[in-house]
Amino acid sequence: KKKNKLFGIIVVLGIIAFVGYFSPLGNLMNQEETHIKEVINKNSITSNNYTLLVNKQYMLGKDYVPKNLEKLNIDFLSDTSEESKYMVKKAADALEDLVETAKEENITLIGSSAYRSYKSQERVLNQETNSKGTVYANKYVAKPGQSEHQSGLAIDVTNKARCFDKTSVEAQWLAKNAYRFGFILRYPEGKENITGYNYEPWHIRYVGKKVAKEIYNNSETLEEYLERLG
Ligand code: DAL
Ligand code: ZN
Repeated sequence: KKKNKLFGIIVVLGIIAFVGYFSPLGNLMNQEETHIKEVINKNSITSNNYTLLVNKQYMLGKDYVPKNLEKLNIDFLSDTSEESKYMVKKAADALEDLVETAKEENITLIGSSAYRSYKSQERVLNQETNSKGTVYANKYVAKPGQSEHQSGLAIDVTNKARCFDKTSVEAQWLAKNAYRFGFILRYPEGKENITGYNYEPWHIRYVGKKVAKEIYNNSETLEEYLERLG
């Protein structure tokens, strides 16, 4: 009888492990890009889908261009292209608010790269691959269609020194305050296995204030938040 019970427990544990391994989060944690789950082609950014998931598994179509792109009224690096000064209106307004408030708190943030089309992402990836190699590039730059920059909801910011590492006051301010304006640090340290990218203190993603606060308080990634919600 005892043996039967033990056997039963082993079978149950086996089933749990099997289901866990093949669940979506299990797949996301698997750094290998097994297969693309979904390709979004429509201009579908409306007032309620700021939690759009774009990563190595959920990608945007080649022709996907977000609706309501608006030029950001902030300072950019001199080499930022015209295209990259745009974000989806809601995100753009929030970003301007963030930069203004930072300024009031003696923190100067500069725009580096916001919206990037599929083609531009291809260029960025090629440049990075040529200068740093494929392994490095894949840890920091998304493949075309797999970048949040194409969604118009993300921006890379920097500081005057162009050295936005975690020891800079600007990066520290951003990590602590971005959520107040509806942004999250999209690629946090220690979550590389979930996001598929290395820690990027400069890349913030608009999700709206309520979601940003929740993700911040739980120290989650967007993947974990969406998974938890089901
Ligand atoms: N740096 C992020 C992963 C991108 O290229 O979209
Ligand atoms: Zn970025």
